[in-house]
This record gives sequence, C-alpha cells and structure tokens, in this order.
Amino acid sequence: MKKVWTKAALSNEVTKRELEHRELARQIAAEGIVLLANDGTLPLKAGSIALFGAGAAFTIKGGTGSGEVNGRYTVMIWEGLKNAGFTVTTESWLNEYLSALDSEKEKYYKQLFKKLQKALLGGDETMINIMSDAFHYPVGRVITEADITKSNTETCIYVISRQAGECSDRKFENYEYTLEPDEINNIRICAVKYKKTVLAVNIGSSIDLSPLDEIEGINAVIYFCQQGMEGGNAFADVVTGKTPPSGCLTNTWAKKYDDLPFAGEYSYLKGAIDKEYYKEGIYVGYRYFDSFNAAPRYEFGYGLTYSDFTIECAGIDTQKSSVTVTAKVTNTGKSYSGKKTVQLYVSCPDGEIKREYQSLAAFAKTKVLAPGESESLTLAFDLTDLAGYKESSSAYILEAGEYIIRLGSSSRKTQVVGVVSLDETVVTEQCEKVCPLQNKLEELTCASKAEIPSGVKRVFVKASDIKTQTHDYKTIRQTNNPKAEKWMALLSKEDRLKFLLGAGMAGAGFFNVPGNAAVTTSDFTGKGIVNISLADGQAGLRLQSVSVIKKSGVIKMVEPMMEMFRYTNAFFKKYMFGTPEQGQVVYQYATAFPIGTAIAQTWNTEIMEAFGKAVGTEMLEYGVTFWLAPGMNIQRNPLCGRNYEYYSEDPVLTGKTAAAVTRGVQSHSGCYVTLKHYAANNQEQLRNHSDSVIGERTLREIYLKGFKIAVKEGAKGVMTSYNLLNGTYTADNFDLCTKLLRQEWGFDGVVMTDWFSSGKGMANNGLAIKAGNDLIMPGGKKYLKMLKKDIKLGKVSDEEINRSCARVLTAIAESDTQKEFEKRGMGSRVV
Ligand code: BGC
Repeated sequence: MKKVWTKAALSNEVTKRELEHRELARQIAAEGIVLLANDGTLPLKAGSIALFGAGAAFTIKGGTGSGEVNGRYTVMIWEGLKNAGFTVTTESWLNEYLSALDSEKEKYYKQLFKKLQKALLGGDETMINIMSDAFHYPVGRVITEADITKSNTETCIYVISRQAGECSDRKFENYEYTLEPDEINNIRICAVKYKKTVLAVNIGSSIDLSPLDEIEGINAVIYFCQQGMEGGNAFADVVTGKTPPSGCLTNTWAKKYDDLPFAGEYSYLKGAIDKEYYKEGIYVGYRYFDSFNAAPRYEFGYGLTYSDFTIECAGIDTQKSSVTVTAKVTNTGKSYSGKKTVQLYVSCPDGEIKREYQSLAAFAKTKVLAPGESESLTLAFDLTDLAGYKESSSAYILEAGEYIIRLGSSSRKTQVVGVVSLDETVVTEQCEKVCPLQNKLEELTCASKAEIPSGVKRVFVKASDIKTQTHDYKTIRQTNNPKAEKWMALLSKEDRLKFLLGAGMAGAGFFNVPGNAAVTTSDFTGKGIVNISLADGQAGLRLQSVSVIKKSGVIKMVEPMMEMFRYTNAFFKKYMFGTPEQGQVVYQYATAFPIGTAIAQTWNTEIMEAFGKAVGTEMLEYGVTFWLAPGMNIQRNPLCGRNYEYYSEDPVLTGKTAAAVTRGVQSHSGCYVTLKHYAANNQEQLRNHSDSVIGERTLREIYLKGFKIAVKEGAKGVMTSYNLLNGTYTADNFDLCTKLLRQEWGFDGVVMTDWFSSGKGMANNGLAIKAGNDLIMPGGKKYLKMLKKDIKLGKVSDEEINRSCARVLTAIAESDTQKEFEKRGMGSRVV
C-alpha cells in the first residue's frame, strides 16, 4: 500500500484558528456594510423587533459556484440580532418562510440533479455550466394584520435577498435585479404599520430600488451585501452601533437599469448573440454618470456614517511625478465614533485624448475616531498612473495641462483642493499594439467638462522629470530555479507534458487531496515532486469539509461540499458520499469570509491584507498551493451573475484591493494567488463562446489596469477566462499571456486556463501553451491526448512546452507543499 499523508484534521473540534478567523470575518463584514439612508433611526437599542423578509430568515452568505465557501455554519440576521439581545417577535413568519424555502429547494435540486446526470454524459462544457438556471429564493408570504399585532413592537427590519453566480446573468423575468410585486407590497405594509422601518439588502450586487420612491415611511436603508458566515452578527454590530458603519459603495447604483449606457444590449438582453460590443468605451460606472451628468441613485464611493466628519486638505506636495495630498479628517459629531474613508479623484485635461470627467487616484481610511478627534491621512499617487492610452502611437501619454485634484467622501462629494500643472506632453510608456479589433468599433466619447475654481493651490510637475518606460518584446524570460532545472533534466518529454495539465476532474483527480475543490497536477511523487493542489474560494477557501480516506488512499466526500448536495438524489449519493466506517474521517473547515464586493467596500487595505493573510494561513493548514482567486473582473453591468466575486467598477480600486489581498496571501512563502478571469470576462451568458469586442484604449485603461496593479505587487498566478477577446480566445492570446503580462508588467508566475475552456470549438490546447499559458485545467487524459495531437500538428514547439513546464515546476519547487513533502520524507499525498 502507498504511504499517504494529509493535512486535514482528524478531529471535529473547533480550532483556535477557526475562532480567530471568525472574529476577523465578523470585523470585515461589519466594515463592508454600507449605510445608504438613515433619518436618525439607526443605531437601534436592543429590544423587541419585527423581522421579515427572505434574507432575515435565511441570510445568503455569498453567491453560487466556485466563489462559494463551505464554512461550518452561517449566522442568519435573525440569529445575529438575537445574539445581540433583541427579541424577535415575528418568529412564526420566519419559520414558515424557512419551511417553504426548504420544499422549493428540494424541488429545484431534484430538477438540477436530473440535468446533472444527463450532463455527466454530455461532456465537460455542459457539466461546468450546469448551474445556469440559478435557484430563485421565494419572497415569503404576505404579512398579515395578525403578524403585525402579534409582533407588538414599533420597529421593523425587512431584509430583501437574491443570489446569483456562475453561468448565468441576473434575469429580469425572475426579478433578480428588480423587486417582486409581493415584496413591494410587504415592504409597504411594514412602512405603513410600523413607526420605524429599516430596509436591508442581502444581495451581492446592486438592485433597482425605484419602487421604494413611492413608499413613505422607510427610515433607513442598509446595503448589507453578502457577508459570509458571520454576517448576521456583523449586521447586529452595525445596527446597534457597536461597529458604526463605514463601508462605501464600489459601484454606482443607477436609478433604473435603463440609465446605463447601451443598457438593452448587455448579455442576454440582446438575444443569444455571441458578440458583446463594449460601445460605452471607457465610460463604465461613475465614469459614465459623471461625464454625461446623469444622476445615480447612489454614487460610486457613497456610504453614510452615524457621525459627521469633515475632510480638509492640509497640503499638496510633489516629488518629481509623485503627488502627495494630506487630508485632515475630524469627527465633528457629538455622539458616535467611527471610521471615515477619504477618496481622491483627478480630472485629467482633455487634449488629443478625451478623458472621463474624473477617476479615482487614491484612497485611505481613518482608524476609529471618537467625537472631536482628528487624524491626518496621506493619499499618494503618481501622475504617470493617470496616463491615457493613445492608440495611434501605442503609447501612454500625459498631456500638458492642469490635473484637478478633488478630495472628498464619495465621487459626488468632493472639493477641488489643488491643481497639478504639467508643462509639456510626455510619453510615460511606449508599448506595442495588442489585441487588435477585427472591425472598427464606434465608441462613446465625451468632452470633459471639468472646470477649475479660482484661487486653488497649484503645484508643478516637469515633463523632463518623467522617464519614458520601454519594453523588451523580444525576450521571454525563463525561470531559473535550480530544483526545477534538475527536475527538468530528469523528466522525459512525455512526462514534461503532464506538467502542463491538471490531473483531471473526475475519478481520482477530483478528490485526490482531501477536500480541495480543484484538482492537482499529476502524481510524480515517486520522482520527488509533490502533486500541488488548487482551491477555489474568493471569499475564503472552497474545501470539502468532512471526508473519508479509505485504505486504498481514495477520498470520499461525506459532508456536502455545496448546498446542492444536501438535496442530492440516490445516484449522486452513491457517487459523492463516502461511508465513514470504511476509513479515516478527516475534517477541514475553512472560514467563509464576506464576498469580494463586500471586502472592497471596506476601502481598508489593511483589513484586505489581513483577509489575504488569513486565507494563506488556511492554505498552509490544508496544503493548498494556488488559491483560485481573487476574481477581479470589472463590474461593467449590474446584471453580471458573478459581480459578487468581483470588487468594483473601478480598475484602481479593483487593483489595489487585489494587490492588498495578494500581499496577505503571499506573505506565506510558497502560497500563491491566481488573478482571474483574465480578461474581459464581464458576463456569464454564453461564457464559453462570447466575444468581448473592445477598443485597445478601453481594454488597457479599464479592463487590464487592475490586473497590472496586482501583477506589479508580485502575484504568482493568473487564470485566463472562458471568453474570446476581439476574436481570439483569451487562453490562446499571446498578447494577453505573454506581451502584456510578462513583457510589459514583468509577471514571472504560472498562467492557467479556466476549467474546460479548451477543446473542440473552444480554446486550443497547443495554441494556449504557445501563447504563454502554462497549465491546461482541469486536465486529465483527454486533454493530454488533445495536446499531443496539437504538437503533431505543429501548433506548439518543444521550446514552448519546456518553457511552460519549467514555470510550473518552479512554482512547485518553491511551494510550501513541496517543503512539507520533503520534510515528511516523501511518501504520497492522498491520491
Ligand atoms: C470558474 C473558475 C473556477 C473554476 C474551478 C470555473 O467554472 O469560472 O472561476 O476557478 O471553475 O472551479
């Protein structure tokens, strides 16, 4: 029998690490909640409370699909309020809701499993897109006079909820972005009948709240978002003022969907058409609303606090091209402490390139300030980071003129605090054309209307102080890890190919490391090379919580990895579930942190880094080498099913959040992030076949900028996306995988494909490796066969294969798992 080892725990006891991370999860959650409206009703003192709405009874902790994390439990809002000392007086309504929900779910999953059974026979693409009809949470029955009388209180909280995720965008016909008539009716009943009504939104992305404009009596609105396993407790922390709200929106909430540019052409709304034209160009989110003077419901960066704060500019300095603004923030309120986010926007001069009205350049957050207390914050940026991309000369340029600095608390609440004057136009970076359009694309343009008030402070930057950065597009950097080089020499040509592929999804591959959602590379433990594992998550690690290792070394799942398996049918029970009596039971409970959007809503890079560090700790604990996150696609449209995993509509906030998370994860040596989905994967409908048609400037300034920021932070992994970009699958795209990533930004890690994104009618395995992709996922025998065929056809050379193999081997050689493997004196990990 093979000698096997696992890092999972042999006992079901709650560990010290779990307790510590729960506390962190609660803190992040409370800080990521955004207060949208408040007439003074909040904070509330613990007392009797009427609680209604789907999200009150069953609070949704995150979205579906690979961003889902399986924690030990989820604290519902209902429970959180009780823990904080509230008496919930509507328990019969909530209990009725839960039992109705249970039967709805059972019906839904029965259907889904039928589909899944067929899909298993239908091929990889069908399988990976199985969740395309998301479960629709019922809104609950009508609130009656009896409910209200029985509740015997003056204060009510109503929680709206929705869930979205992988494979499908949010549908209007299912009220995924709009309120349901029954829901509006119930909210109206609450607003009329209770003296105080607080509305909370338990959704991973924005929703059309316009029907509320017609309802009087809503005293406060909270964007709770989806806050992971400790969400209910965090909700109570904010509602009671234990943790005063300090979160700010990371995207614009439109008054109504049609206010968005080209609203009707997004994704499924234009029909089953596989071309997605990014006609709005750079005018995404607030860039559109601000430049075209359209009024949003809630602007980018918006979020209320319980106290009042002033933000004053205490100085602007320049050091060559770097600009530093000092902001003095004072809590001017009398009753409440709190943190405050300060945001800095810049309006760039319009010249040859027409710029957006303003864009975010820097942000910072105070510590908790007591009434009367002040803090000085430093907000710094480099003027070159604001350069616009001039397509005709393939260069980033800063045009001569006045750069207006705006300081404030949201994109719409700023003050001009100074102007940076640049004497001459300068090329900051000379590039080459990438990802060309196949046909001309008409993009939206707008002349910026930014005006400079008189008397503002002027500081100066000299163009002669800015050096033009150039790139070497001829050389492709080779890795030079001595251990990897030694392995390369030992491996046969055939064996090297196996390092370009995962071990496959089904059979041994799927469960070959206890509980990881994703697969490992092939088993070369006999040669001293560990089989590393990759796990999804985004809001933590997506692991299988409880497993059985059989004597043969085979892992079987016993506890549902995803909610769907709780309702599984007999066929899947046999397929998925183990028999505890037959082997060693092991446990691995990961922390379900708040979703990506909620983490970004904290605007607190320290807490983002702490989150990354915690994820890294859990990776070490369970032997995960690549974390398949952060997801950092731009929230281009609120209907995108995966927005919950992503950070923002703004590339700078996205990039800085991902960079902070990367710092945290990779502070553990040998643990890597995987920035995904690279690139322009901004919709779920037809995700394997949709072609994102984007102009180069828009691509670079909006959709790639965040990736560039995180790569420069040292991220070691990148995952290409399912979609095409201007006619080429991103996995096969040399410009993306090599020119931009490695030659312009200096990436020296591993690029992998998204799961099942190559094969017939999709990306090509050989071309993907040629382009600079190193790992075809999930891999397995079928993919090896396809790759061999491509080699025969001359699609990829030996040199390219060796280059990718060396990159994968370097990542393994430097991984913590390899160190652990060697420490244990070899023997196989569980396979
Ligand atoms: C998702 C990826 C994920 C992968 C592995 C795909 O369906 O798009 O984000 O990492 O599955 O689970």
